[in-house]
Formats: sequence, C-alpha cells, structure tokens
Amino acid sequence: MAFQTVIRTRFYDDFLLRACAGVGRPRQVVLLAAGLDTRAYRLAWPDGVAVYEIDAPDVLAFKDRTLADVAPRCERVACPADLREDWAERLAGAGFEPGRPTVWLAEGLLIYLSAEEAGRLLRRVGELSAPGARIALEQGDSVEWLRSMAEDVPALARVLRLWKGGLGDDTCGWMGRHGWRTRAHELGALAEAYGRPVPGGARSGFLTAEYG
Ligand SMILES: C[S@@+](CC[C@H](N)C(=O)[O-])C[C@H]1O[C@@H](n2cnc3c(N)ncnc32)[C@H](O)[C@@H]1O
Repeated sequence: MAFQTVIRTRFYDDFLLRACAGVGRPRQVVLLAAGLDTRAYRLAWPDGVAVYEIDAPDVLAFKDRTLADVAPRCERVACPADLREDWAERLAGAGFEPGRPTVWLAEGLLIYLSAEEAGRLLRRVGELSAPGARIALEQGDSVEWLRSMAEDVPALARVLRLWKGGLGDDTCGWMGRHGWRTRAHELGALAEAYGRPVPGGARSGFLTAEYG
C-alpha cells in the first residue's frame, strides 16, 4: 500500500501538470477528496490555474489551519462537501464553471464509497465535463483482494472498516460505458520508469481517461 501511494503521488503529479499543458489548456483542476493533498502548494502550476479541493468540512478546516502560513502556488479553492450529496452545487458556488476544460483527480477515494455512490459521483463528473476533460483515478481491485492484503497489517484494521469497495475491478469497464476513453497504467511498469525497485506482489495501477 505504501509503495502504491508513493508511485501514485508522482504519477498523478505528472498527470495533472501534463494535462494543464495539453489540449485546451485546462485551468480548472478538481481534487475529489483532496484530503491532505498538498499539490496546490507544491506543484509548479501554469498561470491562471484554480485548484478546487473537495473534502469533508472538518478535514479542510484542519488543513486550512495547518497550512495557514503557506502560500499556494495557484488559486486554491477549498470546497467543503460530501461527495455523496450536493457537492456539484457547492463546487459551482465556489466558482467552478461546468463545461470549461477541466482536469479531475479521484485519488484514494472510490474505495471509501459503495459502487452505487461511486457511480453516482462519476456520472455527475461526466455531466460537468466538456469533451476533452481528463481524469485520473485508481484502476480498482476486488475488495476481497484488498482486504486479504490488508489483513496482514494490523494497523490497517481501522482503515479497512471504512472500505466499501467503490467500482472494484470494473472501474475501467464502468468508465468506458459512461463516455470516457480510458488508458491503464500498470503499477510495476510505472515504478520501473521512475527507477524504483518493485516489491514482490505489487499489482494494480491507475487509469487516465478523456471524456467524449
Ligand atoms: C485516503 S484519503 C485520500 C486523500 C487524498 N486524495 C490523498 O490521496 O492523499 C480519503 C479521503 O476521502 C475523503 N472522503 C471520503 N468519503 C468522502 C465523502 N463522502 N465526501 C467527501 N470526502 C470524502 C476523506 O475525508 C479523506 O480525506
């Protein structure tokens, strides 16, 4: 899990910056479940980028307090909301313009939602996206496999209880059926490209996708 998190951090960093420099020059970036993500503070964003961070109110309040003395390197917009509820309205209220070129990131999120919740969230993301919008997210694994892996690590028990599985190993298929052209990125191959030794048993990876 730690290995996957290290690789995914770098992979999503690169994805976001490349997407902002690519077709349509998107200037809206939405971090779905930003948590304590510090990308707004540490990445070299192009001029004019607004990074919308959606997460639970208490998480964002803690982050705002903790980073109060640090200047973001873009326009950072905290958007407290429950991603199972009226988050899209709150995002629009915070200045997000549906239909403008946008890059989305759902990092470490879907597993905390049920398949129905994850599907509803991603359908809404599609509705807010113009053709060419991009997203990155985990490829998804069967929750049984994740649980069996995590059972060997007692410290993970508290986290394990929160997992609902998301779209599981159908994430790529679901995205394809809902208007996204997907590309899979295998964890081991990415790690090798970054010069990281790949531990035995490493599997899974990430998806990037383009809408329309
Ligand atoms: C494992 S953390 C990932 C945080 C960050 N994306 C990262 O990878 O470092 C999961 C995040 O999802 C958020 N989260 C889970 N369910 C949520 C919901 N229904 N609405 C908003 N945020 C939620 C949690 O508050 C937490 O910050």
